[in-house]
Amino acid sequence: MRVHVADHPLITHKLTVLRDKRTPSPVFRQLTEELVTLLAYEATRGVRVEPYEIQTPVTTTTGVRISEPRPLVVPILRAGLGMLEGMVKLLPTAEVGFLGMVRNEETLEPSTYAERLPDDLSDRQCFVLDPMLATGGSLGAAIEFLFARGAQDVTAICLLGAPEGVAAIEKQIAGRDVTLVLGALDERLNEKGYIVPGLGDAGDRLYGTV
Ligand code: PRP
Ligand code: URA
Repeated sequence: MRVHVADHPLITHKLTVLRDKRTPSPVFRQLTEELVTLLAYEATRGVRVEPYEIQTPVTTTTGVRISEPRPLVVPILRAGLGMLEGMVKLLPTAEVGFLGMVRNEETLEPSTYAERLPDDLSDRQCFVLDPMLATGGSLGAAIEFLFARGAQDVTAICLLGAPEGVAAIEKQIAGRDVTLVLGALDERLNEKGYIVPGLGDAGDRLYGTV
């Protein structure tokens, strides 16, 4: 598994504002979108392209275009939805599938409550969006879902990750093609399974408490 942790002052600056508990939802949503676009630059480094011949005003030249089948972007509801616009800004031709997952706050086990994905993901590159990688239960289940449908490789973009979650995914994926792109790797999980220092509950901060 490849793990890329962002190392850029603009990303750290935006994450600092995001972490601040005084940051209101509209600003939190805007920053989430901006951060994803910055992280997507790294996350799409391996996107498959094919040669494409065009005419410039001066001559003929061969560039590239994104290959078929098109990449699939999968936000994990609810909090991952806040990352979708920032991602498709960079990858406008991608298709979008949805997975709804919630973790039980007592057991920390994830459960899937919604799924809208193509039945066949053979040969697909998938980009999973979820702001928080805590225990890794939710992301791990999402990755299994995609590989079970035939996905070829999966790249996950998370704003924050905990070392415990990264280790859990590493153990689970066992040699399959997975890349993790993190805005930051935080210190640890607390006794309630929250990332420390973290930013709190990402879904609540984006959309309000439910
Ligand atoms: C949050 C977050 C991840 C999950 C991470 O979602 O968006 O999906 O928790 O925790 P884990 O790594 O321990 O599984 P949550 O279950 O709170 O649902 P929400 O997006 O609806 O707020
Ligand atoms: N989910 C969140 O939204 N935040 C955490 O810190 C952990 C899980």
